[in-house]
Amino acid sequence: MDKIIGDIGKLLSNHIKTSKQNKNYVLNQQSPELIAATLELKKLLKKGFSNNNEILNFIKNYLKNTNHLSNPNYMGHQVAVPYDLSGIPELIHGTINNPSSLYEMGPAGATCEGFMINWMLDKVGWLKEKDYYNFNFKFGEASGILTHGGSVANLTALAAARSAICPKAWTQGNPNNIVVIGAKSAHYSISRALSILGLGSNSFLPVKVDQNEVLIISDLEDVFNKAIKKNLRVMCVVANACATSTGLYDPIVEMGDFCEKHKIWFHIDGAHGAAALVSKKNKSLLKGINKATSIIWDAHKMMRVPSLCTALLFKNFKHQALAFQQKGSYVFHEEEVVGMDSMPYTIECTKSALGTKFFWSLALKGERAIEKYIDYTFELAKTFYELLEKEEFFELPYRPESNILCFRYLKESKTNEFQKTLRYAIINRKKFYITSCEMNGLRYLRVVLLNPDTSKKELKNLIEEIKNVSKELFEI
Ligand SMILES: Cc1ncc(COP(=O)(O)O)c(C=O)c1O
Repeated sequence: MDKIIGDIGKLLSNHIKTSKQNKNYVLNQQSPELIAATLELKKLLKKGFSNNNEILNFIKNYLKNTNHLSNPNYMGHQVAVPYDLSGIPELIHGTINNPSSLYEMGPAGATCEGFMINWMLDKVGWLKEKDYYNFNFKFGEASGILTHGGSVANLTALAAARSAICPKAWTQGNPNNIVVIGAKSAHYSISRALSILGLGSNSFLPVKVDQNEVLIISDLEDVFNKAIKKNLRVMCVVANACATSTGLYDPIVEMGDFCEKHKIWFHIDGAHGAAALVSKKNKSLLKGINKATSIIWDAHKMMRVPSLCTALLFKNFKHQALAFQQKGSYVFHEEEVVGMDSMPYTIECTKSALGTKFFWSLALKGERAIEKYIDYTFELAKTFYELLEKEEFFELPYRPESNILCFRYLKESKTNEFQKTLRYAIINRKKFYITSCEMNGLRYLRVVLLNPDTSKKELKNLIEEIKNVSKELFEI
């Protein structure tokens, strides 16, 4: 085991080094048939790896067919570029397999989870006088759990909100007058969660957004009043912090005041943008977050943690405790248990050692490094905006608040179809990886600047690449 692990370590280290130095393509997309044949999946499954060389060969071919997030030209989806050693807890977990949902199945992992939850609660301002080593969560005090991703966390939060407004729904099913209000631009996992909960996606009442996908506060009042007139009961109001498409934040203070006034559950979807809480410079973007009833925060987006790892935080442990009104006598021991089980509060029964990889990534360079990283990436998006502003033919709908920026290049064509074609042509040239999105019927190119090695140089190169590719497309 020692020898092969050392050799795999060397392969990975070389992969990261060459990616960081931009010595390979960001993404060289081959068809799945070709990848399956290159990896010899059929043969290896049948007879197994016959020696260490075959294992190493498989890994080499595997790495060639991956998206190189460490390449500074990676500006794509909201998936963390982890620290070089962020994967170590995954190796430990994969080797010993200690799921952290039951304390006795993984005491160290469960402890890291409880510790990181306390750390996050502190960032929100909900920990009060409690010590990070105090793992007792009580009614009236804040609490949280880690889940496999933001979509599961949103579903869990909405299940908890439903239990609060309608405790009988767990046993008797849903009444037909429950609704959730949020920006039209809310992440699709919200309406998907409502369908999964049996409330139906029509129970989501969208509030109008401005041209940059930010909730218009005056329309929240209108949507609410119309719902009340129809005898609908508002289970929850959802805020984007920030919106997936634009990276802009909904008016959290005003939405929080609204929820306080009407005594409505206020859920903040901070999957991407709650990370700004770690930054003294940027945390004002989340002003009003303490008014939330629940918050989700993905560590695998902006905290340099490998996917998946999301926190769901509750202002009052009562809401976490009552979300799932169910007991499994073989797993929930209540009084006699040492430590804490997160299993009663999660959709997942078995859960990976999420807290361990979260703690580990932060501990690799310390908290201050994450703060600097957030500040750097948020500033980089502003730098890109300023570079594009000086250019002709680039349309910029807004100045970025976080590290996401949407824009259009309109020299050769103004159609939506062209922006889409342009994006595919750029990624097919393999030098850059960017995304695209639609807002108000218009198609945009979109960058998420979360690679710490991306600098002004790469941004200038991207501008040139866009111009060249667009010209070439037009000439074809
Ligand atoms: C605002 C928002 N909420 C939820 C999610 C879903 O998170 P996950 O991909 O971790 O399931 C995303 C993903 O991009 C998001 O941007």
